[in-house]
Amino acid sequence: MTNADRELLERADSVAARAYAPYSQFFVGAAVRTRDGRVFEGANVENAAYPLGICAEKTALGKAVSEGVKPGDMEVVAVTASPCGGCRQWFHEFQIDRVVYRRANGDVAVLTPAELLPDTFELEP
Ligand code: THU
Repeated sequence: MTNADRELLERADSVAARAYAPYSQFFVGAAVRTRDGRVFEGANVENAAYPLGICAEKTALGKAVSEGVKPGDMEVVAVTASPCGGCRQWFHEFQIDRVVYRRANGDVAVLTPAELLPDTFELEP
């Protein structure tokens, strides 16, 4: 893992403290870095109607896309937990090179979206 990737994971750790997770008490942070060096952070945001909550990764990627970031523009995303299946499909969608995340046992993993989610859903053949 590069120093820049380690720093990105530290930023994800910081933003996790700002998560709104009163129901699960599971605080997740994510930070995505674009190829031109911009960083977008996100935290999970829950809701009393449980399925309406949003993952930290989707918050971060949504913020990036809202600022004009396109598929292929994001180099790496760091997450404080192992990403859920849905977020893995998002990483595939936006062609992120690699995902840095902390497993439940504390180990840090660096994997590609294809390794995290093989045989992804494609809308067109
Ligand atoms: N969560 C994330 O933010 N990212 C993931 O990839 C997995 C789960 C959040 C959703 C919910 O607020 C809490 O963790 C417990 O599932």
